[in-house]
Amino acid sequence: MKIAIIGAGYVGLTSAAVFASLGHSVWLLDKDKIKIKTLKSGRVPFYEPELPELLKKSLSKGSLKPTLSFSEAIPDADVIFICVGTPMSKNGEADLSQVFAAAESIAKQLKKYSVIVNKSTVPTGTTERVKNIIRKIAGVSFDVASCPEFLREGNAVYNTLNPDRIVIGTETKCAEKVLLRLHEKLPGGRVTTDIRTAEIIKYASNAFLATKISFINEIANLCEEVGTNVEDVALGMGLDPRIGKDFLKPGIGYGGSCFPKDTRALHLIAHSNSYTFKLLKAVIEVNQTQRRNFLGKVRRAVGDLKGKKIGALGLAFKNNTDDIRESAALNIIDWLIKEGGRVKAFDPKANANAKKNLPALTVCKKPEECFLKTDAVLILTEWPDFKFLPWTALKKKMRHPIVIDGRNLLDPIEMRKFGFKYISVGRP
Ligand code: UDX
Repeated sequence: MKIAIIGAGYVGLTSAAVFASLGHSVWLLDKDKIKIKTLKSGRVPFYEPELPELLKKSLSKGSLKPTLSFSEAIPDADVIFICVGTPMSKNGEADLSQVFAAAESIAKQLKKYSVIVNKSTVPTGTTERVKNIIRKIAGVSFDVASCPEFLREGNAVYNTLNPDRIVIGTETKCAEKVLLRLHEKLPGGRVTTDIRTAEIIKYASNAFLATKISFINEIANLCEEVGTNVEDVALGMGLDPRIGKDFLKPGIGYGGSCFPKDTRALHLIAHSNSYTFKLLKAVIEVNQTQRRNFLGKVRRAVGDLKGKKIGALGLAFKNNTDDIRESAALNIIDWLIKEGGRVKAFDPKANANAKKNLPALTVCKKPEECFLKTDAVLILTEWPDFKFLPWTALKKKMRHPIVIDGRNLLDPIEMRKFGFKYISVGRP
């Protein structure tokens, strides 16, 4: 099929590369000239495993064509995906300006029947608003649809090639048929439904996962009070298939471009429909408190932060990405610096992004540098690489051998054997 995808971020670029690899002919549109130039040369503007290889393959076959031009990409397309950002606006609602701008640009170039699919995470009713914008401008028939994306950064290609489910929200049987055919080579369950339901499935899924994380974080806090081990609790809970073992890792709270934004947006959607989503409000509050709790642990371990040297391992919002959006690690480091702490940090992929965002931060080329004459080292992102550091040698470099592990990455017994004062989350 002929596809046009608007927005070359994580979702748009990954979808484009995957659809191209499945044999479709894909135009990938973005308004950012530098991004399009970078993509044309086969480079991915952010760190995402497997994506550069897939991009290069599709470019060389000619099945994926990055472009700035709507007039090149839209007229022939059977299916057009809107994959632009819906960042959080000041009041917490999703900012839909990029979605509506994309709709207008599509409408001006529509020359034949196409299915216009929203993949961006949007409040219920947005796809209908997209339809109204296009209807006013376009002179041909078209359908709109909603197919939310569930990929995880760091695993985006795998998730897109192996989805658990494909949600297809449409208003007509014709659009449903087109979209079922488009996805026919992909595994996973199919959920065919109406557009509003598809839109809310995405928010409900992310809000539920965020709830699991806040829940286990509260259990971890309780474990600290009663002297029990949250990892055993999570294991004991997670083996029940109704609960499931995933997303039960306690830590410093969730971050990233989705959970913080989507939980707040869903809370506001409920509020604007006169419904008070009490549970979601608590999930959001617990997440913020979890970051503060960690700061409290650092204060209790090193005393007044003024002038203290702190090493920080991890800056990205999770491992396997260079993304620092809503990163709990950066948030905590910012607080440490504001309280007078001197922070040296290392992340395998996110150093450059973090430095741009927080110029007061000293970034190190190697994790080892974060230990030099420091009063404590913090683990803030769950990069597995940090498990295998030469801890005995590193201890000697520190002023005080204190490790505060916000991701429960290390083994408490081993760390104490190495001679560290070791503090983690919800473990005795
Ligand atoms: C998420 C959803 O998982 C994905 O389905 C959706 O399409 C986009 O949002 P992503 O933002 O890439 O994906 O990250 P994810 O792997 O879900 O992690 C989100 C945050 O939760 C990270 O900060 C991570 O460190 C944290 N997390 C995750 C925990 O603290 N504990 C866990 O058990 C799992």
